[in-house]
Amino acid sequence: MTDHKPYMKPYEEEIKTFSWDISKNELGYKDGDVINIGEYCTDRICRMGKGEKLALIWEGYTGEEKRYTFNDMRQLTNSIAKYLTELGIKPGERVCLFMDKVPELYFGFLGVLKMGAIVQPLFSAFGPESLLTRLQDAGTSAIFTQKKHLPKVRNILKDLPGLNHIIVVDDDGVKPLREKETAFNMDKAERVDSFDIYPSKAETPSVLHYTSGTTGKPKGAQHVHYSLISQYMTAKYVLDIKDDDIYWCTADPGWVTGTSYGIIGAWSNGATQCVLDAGFKSESWYKFIEKHKISMWYSAPTAIRALMKDGTETAKKFDLSSLRHLASVGEPLNAEAVIWSKEAFGIMFHDTFWQTETGCIVVSNYPGMKIKPGSMGKPFPGIEVTVVDLKTSVPIEKKGVVGMIAIKPGWPSMIRTYWNNEITYKSKFQNGWYLCGDRASIDEEGYFWFVGRDDDVINTGGHLVGPFEIESALLEHPAVAESAAIGKPDPINMEVVKAFITLKPGFDQTKMLELEIMNFVRKKLSALAMPQEIEFVDTLPKTRSGKIMRRVLRAQEWGEEIGDISTLENDM
Ligand code: PRX
Repeated sequence: MTDHKPYMKPYEEEIKTFSWDISKNELGYKDGDVINIGEYCTDRICRMGKGEKLALIWEGYTGEEKRYTFNDMRQLTNSIAKYLTELGIKPGERVCLFMDKVPELYFGFLGVLKMGAIVQPLFSAFGPESLLTRLQDAGTSAIFTQKKHLPKVRNILKDLPGLNHIIVVDDDGVKPLREKETAFNMDKAERVDSFDIYPSKAETPSVLHYTSGTTGKPKGAQHVHYSLISQYMTAKYVLDIKDDDIYWCTADPGWVTGTSYGIIGAWSNGATQCVLDAGFKSESWYKFIEKHKISMWYSAPTAIRALMKDGTETAKKFDLSSLRHLASVGEPLNAEAVIWSKEAFGIMFHDTFWQTETGCIVVSNYPGMKIKPGSMGKPFPGIEVTVVDLKTSVPIEKKGVVGMIAIKPGWPSMIRTYWNNEITYKSKFQNGWYLCGDRASIDEEGYFWFVGRDDDVINTGGHLVGPFEIESALLEHPAVAESAAIGKPDPINMEVVKAFITLKPGFDQTKMLELEIMNFVRKKLSALAMPQEIEFVDTLPKTRSGKIMRRVLRAQEWGEEIGDISTLENDM
């Protein structure tokens, strides 16, 4: 193992001297140059003499293992880029990745970028309705998928006239493919040694990540190739990935962590990373760490709480001594989990805070910096973060006062718009600040303490789920008259979805109906969006203008103060 001294200088020193030029210089990029994330993660690493270094160690749920060097990855991403070009996909078109965490997902991501199209990763557990909404919104032309997910795509194809290419990565020829469907086997594809990579510039669109808000449909957060400048640097300084580290980011690339740090940040730093394409189980996770000698592990509070539930003794059954740095993202990392990680692994999880929209970590605990368990840490050097007054959006000077987390626009990986929705994008900025929609306070020493979201978005196991999408799905059920979806407390997932429903006349409030409605949502959207509990009510709290007041239901559920209900129309 190399020197364990963190890459980043002590925080107070770094903050004085940091500039994004450090990142640009290290990446050999000058303003105005061509910058293509696909090239930076593969060809450039090979040019640096690391072609034979392992880029990906992949393990499937059956225990099957595949290994690829940076040179393999360079050639295979070229193969994908060439294949898409030959299909007639043009730069700027949207290409969706709808796959489990198979190697094709990772290399597909970089292959799409290499030929200049916009990559749209979607979580493979999405049901047909969640998928349809996002493909329609993006006007997607091609989708990579696996046999097992093909029925979901076929199901919605009639509503997607622009989706002309369905690329099946594991077709075995047993059942014939249909019109518009084509087979592409990456491991057997011709290896392309040289491909004319699309000369994207800083502002060329790169990744389109769908994220949920309180109202309306999910929004496509539009990133550009320049995001690399932030992602490279934060992966290096926050995750502290060294040349001989074995890195494991547990996030699925359907979510931003899985792309910013599960692909771009890691590989632009030339890191070897492991991927486990299997569900969560404490013992198999520990076994995976032990087997591959994982040294840097980026995970999420829900997983940590689930590991904690299985006890320190389970962790102690394995040799986890390879671990040297741990980080977490997605939801509040409670102090107990930080303290427990020290007990179980001998080192603490470092909380990091950011969003799909920020593209990179913005507040964090840094290697070497004192950790205050329960705090998210301090702003990344080069990114100005504060908390602002909830009404005026003016920065709050007084320490310990709760406000909205706000960031000064201009960091390299900030989204550039929401796809076809500039109005919502603009609404995120007030008084010269980008507003995160999260509440926090800052203490005397400059540490941020998360309080909660400032809207109705539900965070279940680190995944944001929009109440509107769930309510819309619920309303499609023949028995449902009105509905409201909120997050209710959960010891492992922090929140799970709970729905309040009024029934149409003629329907009875039965357990059977409750289960049927739950299943209805699971099939349409996903298991994450499925209400874990349904409460049948006679009426829902509404404003005088008829808007359902989710916050009243939420406050009741969490045993909190309801706050101002002067606009409430009906008695509960
Ligand atoms: O509410 C915050 C929560 O997750 C939201 C962002 O979700 P998403 O765009 O899906 O990206 C997740 C991974 C980057 C935030 O607005 N969140 C994220 N990290 C933390 C957090 N809440 C508390 N503590 C965190 N460390």
